[in-house]
Amino acid sequence: MVGATATAGLSLTCALLPCQGYRGGLAATRSLEWRKKKRQCMRKGSPLINAKFDLKPPPYPLNGLEPHMSRETLEYHWGMHHRSYVESLNRQIVGTELDGMTLEDIVILSYNKGDLLPAFNNAAQICNHDFFWESMKPGGGGKPSGDLLELIERDFGSFEGFIKEFKSAASTQFGSGWVWLAYKANRLDVGNAMNPCPSDEDKRLVVVKCPNAVNPLVWDYSPLLTIDVWEHAYYLDFQNQRVDYISVFMEELVSWEVVSSRLVTAKAQAAEREREEERSKRDEEEDNTADGKAVEMYLASDTDDSEAE
Ligand SMILES: [Fe+2]
Repeated sequence: MVGATATAGLSLTCALLPCQGYRGGLAATRSLEWRKKKRQCMRKGSPLINAKFDLKPPPYPLNGLEPHMSRETLEYHWGMHHRSYVESLNRQIVGTELDGMTLEDIVILSYNKGDLLPAFNNAAQICNHDFFWESMKPGGGGKPSGDLLELIERDFGSFEGFIKEFKSAASTQFGSGWVWLAYKANRLDVGNAMNPCPSDEDKRLVVVKCPNAVNPLVWDYSPLLTIDVWEHAYYLDFQNQRVDYISVFMEELVSWEVVSSRLVTAKAQAAEREREEERSKRDEEEDNTADGKAVEMYLASDTDDSEAE
């Protein structure tokens, strides 16, 4: 996704960033990550930073998806709508505490438990569109293989079952929004949002419908595939026939290789997080043990002094 170009900058106060309460156990461990993020942007003496996000081009020519998605659609959708989000965000965050953060951090932090901060929509729309363009390729479609196919079959019953659920979600998302296939590594709330599927099993694939600009990153899910169901995504090629657009996207455009590689990354990140949580738990236990010994030593020393008197 898009990265920030850091140059010199500002004193960062993070006054807009939420500071939430957390539960114990793994949730408490996860909350450490949020506190780290906050500390990082509150660090005194941080270099002066001005964010400048770029309009990232699709990984193919603007006519590369024809005849399924026209050059004209790409010219408007990428060249005008996507560009507008980038230009708006750059104007919006310059000189604020969000200036210099990564795009993903701006999305997560400005989600603010659904009470969106002003930068959220533009930042998320940049994220979503970058991800959308990269989800497609000329000559796409077909069927995934390997681990991705196995997980799809496990979690949706069959590949056909997944296609049916994804298409249904995309066709029934009311108004503008996005539909995602995501890897849900856990069922815990995160520092800035409540998990929408807390009762589902961990480490599974889910299809989620998101209104407007919402990205499953805000729930700590790992996005694998998305379809843009804003009307601007399909009106030039399909007019109001969203169902036809969804079918063409799934059958002719999806890059399953990209989706598979995202799954590999998502699982690796989840595994690394589990190891980190174990390390944090061990460190905490060792700290508690060390604290207990310190108290004992203090009491023993105190007793000795008393006897000496
Ligand atoms: Fe769009």
